[in-house]
Amino acid sequence: LQRTVAAEQPSTSSPDNMHKQPFVIGVAGGAASGKTTVCDMIIQQLHDQRVVLVNQDSFYHNLSEEELTRVHEYNFDHPDAFDTGKLLSSMEKLKHMQAVDIPNYDFKSYKNNVFPARRVNPSDVIILEGILIFHDPRVRDLMNMKIFVDTDADVRLARRIRRDTVEKGRDIGAVLDQYSKFVKPAFDDFILPTKKYADIIIPRGGDNHVAVDLIVQHIRTKLGQHDLCKIYPNLYVIQSTFQI
Ligand code: ADP
Ligand code: C5P
Repeated sequence: LQRTVAAEQPSTSSPDNMHKQPFVIGVAGGAASGKTTVCDMIIQQLHDQRVVLVNQDSFYHNLSEEELTRVHEYNFDHPDAFDTGKLLSSMEKLKHMQAVDIPNYDFKSYKNNVFPARRVNPSDVIILEGILIFHDPRVRDLMNMKIFVDTDADVRLARRIRRDTVEKGRDIGAVLDQYSKFVKPAFDDFILPTKKYADIIIPRGGDNHVAVDLIVQHIRTKLGQHDLCKIYPNLYVIQSTFQI
C-alpha cells in the first residue's frame, strides 16, 4: 500500500527550485535498437506536456581533415567520439531551466556545425537519447529515469543495414565492415555494460506498447507531484511506502 503524505515545507528549503526542475529521462541502447521510436511514442503520449528531445548524436566531435580522408577507420561508437563536456553543460543548463543551442549533426558530411543550431527551451520533461548516455556518471546523475532499449543484435543489424544504405546512401560492404570492426565490439565493451544502470529495460523497443504505457503513467505521476507543489507552494510531498 503506497500512501502520499503532504507535509509543511521547512522555511529554509526552496520548494520553488524543487518543482521547477524538469524531469529528465535517459534512453540508451544499441544503435538501431529503437531508441528514437520509443522516445517518439513517449512524446506522443505526453502530448499535453512540454517535452524536448536531445540526441547524443548532436555532440559528436567534428572530424579533422585527416580523419575525414580515412573516415572508415574512425570509431563512432567509442565514448571518445562524443564531446561529453559540452553534452553535460547543455543538459545542466536545461535542468536549471535555461535555453541552450544544440548543434545539428549531419551523418553524411560527418559535421555537427550545420547552422542554425537548434534552440532548445527548458521544458517539463527532457529526454536524452543515445547509445552511450549512461557511460559517464556525471550525465547519468542528471537523470530521473533511465531506460535501456534491449533489442536483439540481429534485428539491430538488419535495421542498420536498411537505414544506412537507404537513408544515408552508404555502401552495404562498408556498413558490414563498420559493424564488425567498431559497432559490435563497442556495443559489447561500452554499451551493454551500462544496461545495469537502467531503471527500466524495454525488450523489443517500440513493439512493446505495454512498457511504453507504464513509463508514461509513471512520468505523469511524477509530473502530478510537481504540479501539486505549484498549486500549494508551502507544501511538499513525501512518498512513503507502508507494508501491510
Ligand atoms: P535508434 O534510435 O535506436 O537508432 P530507431 O528508432 O531510429 O533506433 O530505429 C532504427 C530503424 O529501425 C529505423 O529505420 C526505424 O524505422 C526502424 N524501427 C524501429 N523500431 C521498429 C519496429 N518496432 N519495427 C520495425 N522497424 C523499426
Ligand atoms: O541513432 P543511433 O543511435 O543508431 O546512432 C548511433 C550510430 O551512428 C553509431 O552506431 C555510429 O556508428 C553511427 N554513426 C555513423 N556515422 C556517423 C556518426 C555515427 O555511422 N557519422
